[in-house]
Amino acid sequence: MEDSFIRYLTAKRTVDDRALNRTVWQQLVQSVRSLQKTQQQPLRVLELGAGAGTMVERLLTWELFDAQAVHYTLLDADPALLDAARTRLSTLPQWLQPSFVVADAVEYAEQENILPHDLLIANAVLDLLDLPTALPALRRLVRDGGLFYFTINFDGATLLEPTVDPMLDAAIENAYHRTMDERVLAGRPSGDSRTGRHLFTQLPAAGFTIQAAGSSDWVVFPQDGTYVADEAYFLHFIVHTMQSALHQHAELPAHAFASWIAARHAQIDQGKLVYIAHQLDFYGIVTPRKL
Ligand SMILES: C[S@@+](CC[C@H](N)C(=O)[O-])C[C@H]1O[C@@H](n2cnc3c(N)ncnc32)[C@H](O)[C@@H]1O
Repeated sequence: MEDSFIRYLTAKRTVDDRALNRTVWQQLVQSVRSLQKTQQQPLRVLELGAGAGTMVERLLTWELFDAQAVHYTLLDADPALLDAARTRLSTLPQWLQPSFVVADAVEYAEQENILPHDLLIANAVLDLLDLPTALPALRRLVRDGGLFYFTINFDGATLLEPTVDPMLDAAIENAYHRTMDERVLAGRPSGDSRTGRHLFTQLPAAGFTIQAAGSSDWVVFPQDGTYVADEAYFLHFIVHTMQSALHQHAELPAHAFASWIAARHAQIDQGKLVYIAHQLDFYGIVTPRKL
């Protein structure tokens, strides 16, 4: 398959659109609207791991902001993704001024003289970071009393239907989640397969007070044998990701695993695969620091 992360992130847009928890979203909308009514200066928003920029489009389509000046910074470690975002976002309304920062989120947060933001966003990102070290650093990016919206945090369940082989299905799911738990990026632990539930304790410990939380499961299924938008590509990419993560895994017989991967791709081509990933969304307020 064509292995394009940009196309994957773009295809993910409609999947996230369905998944994002609407109760959590409504609380964010209320707070942002009242902030815009009371605050004199333009709202300062920072999105971590912004990828190809689909969240900005969503926030505009779903009317998060009143049409008043907003400074919106997209930060990502991958410059190619931000280039794609820049192209994608070339026709924004004038009141929304985007800027683009290529950086590691935690290193960026650890810099001195960061002007804090009113709202910090991270979609499908926190499960890639080591929460105990990352969250206290990220707290520095938000002003006291500012808002956070941390969404699509993976939480320990990958369901694929129909079954290929019950024992092998379970072994692959477990091994896949273990690769998330053991992953090391740039010499640092990076996230785990139960990030969603861990955020209930890790967020308050780092000064993020949770005001709303709810599930945001990805549910991708065929209708009349086809998938909407580019979601067949999204599914192929997920199966490809599992293949890459578990390639040459000691506990999975190579031949059986290769057949399993082929069977999953075939189920997508036949419009039969149903994919569910359990995730959680969080919205809240950043607790003022004690002096
Ligand atoms: C799963 S993608 C999600 C992208 C986007 N938020 C979306 O939902 O379409 C994760 C993104 O986080 C970025 N990322 C991962 N670790 C990062 C880090 N430590 N600092 C900055 N960006 C990071 C990746 O480059 C990628 O764009």
